[in-house]
Amino acid sequence: MNENILIVDDELLVRELLTTALTYEGFTCHTATNVDEAFGIMDVQQMDLVISDIMMPGRSGMELLRDLKQIDEDIAVLMITGLTDTQTALECISLGADDYIAKPFSITRVILTVRNLIERRQLALEKKKNQASLESRVMAQTEQVRSTMFELQSAYNDTLTALVKALDAREKEAGSHSERVMNYSKLLAARMGVDAHRREQLAKGALLHDIGKIGITDKTLLKPSELNEQEWREIHRHPQVGYDILSQIRFLKAPAEIILNHHERFDGRGYPNGLKGEEIPIGARIFALVDTLDAMTSDRPYRGALPFDSVTDEVTRCRGSQFDPDIADLFLSIPRCEWEECNDKRLL
Ligand SMILES: [Fe+2]
Ligand SMILES: [Fe+2]
Repeated sequence: MNENILIVDDELLVRELLTTALTYEGFTCHTATNVDEAFGIMDVQQMDLVISDIMMPGRSGMELLRDLKQIDEDIAVLMITGLTDTQTALECISLGADDYIAKPFSITRVILTVRNLIERRQLALEKKKNQASLESRVMAQTEQVRSTMFELQSAYNDTLTALVKALDAREKEAGSHSERVMNYSKLLAARMGVDAHRREQLAKGALLHDIGKIGITDKTLLKPSELNEQEWREIHRHPQVGYDILSQIRFLKAPAEIILNHHERFDGRGYPNGLKGEEIPIGARIFALVDTLDAMTSDRPYRGALPFDSVTDEVTRCRGSQFDPDIADLFLSIPRCEWEECNDKRLL
């Protein structure tokens, strides 16, 4: 045991008495005759406990206590008061003193109190240390969980993308229509000022928009000739089928709304529910434009890719009927090169 104790008292006798007794108990004692000297010593030596008189020439022990607790809140302070009035003692406690002893004191009582305070301080420091290590363990574990979530999320995105690519391949798509409309919708949504979270949901909905085609037979989906009424009915089920599959998955609920509504038209003549205007979720209204963009500018079995100008003609023509007019205007304000950049695909 060699804790450092600073004894601050203007009376030589008190300093000597305390130093002798506490040194005998195994403590390392330092002495100061006034507050300024005390701070001078503490500049060079860290103390575990300060024993301070209250009435001293110059600054008082109360001022020492107040300044000291501001510098080091963990330091133990024992006040020795020559004033027998309890008011001063209580004031010391409220300023952060750990205990007080009234003069004249019994040296045994001082030693007991000092031991007690030193022990209490050590326990408090230990608790603080444990708290800090607990906090850093919690932080490390949180980081671990976050990175696992991130890996999970990207594995999950890769799985969805692979699934969608397989579906696109079934329709003999050149490249992936689904991935391209995902990128186009991110561009248009960003231009509309849609926030990042909803942009992400839209992107997922765009990527998965035709997932319901999984339920359509090859015979109908790949039929090269005109479809009959029953085959059209089968085709028209794909938004609902897609919705039914994905709305079961908690974090795909919002994308599922886009999937359900991706064939609705602004004038109410779309399917499956014939929603009109702003009844159609905004994501689905954005999607309708970029789906048309990619469908028209990609090769089809019965025609080659159409030029970008024919897309703008079509959007202008169907502004207000198939498409939300405001979103259509915004679409038309984006130059061809920006659409080309977002998929690295040249448009004619
Ligand atoms: Fe579709
Ligand atoms: Fe599509």
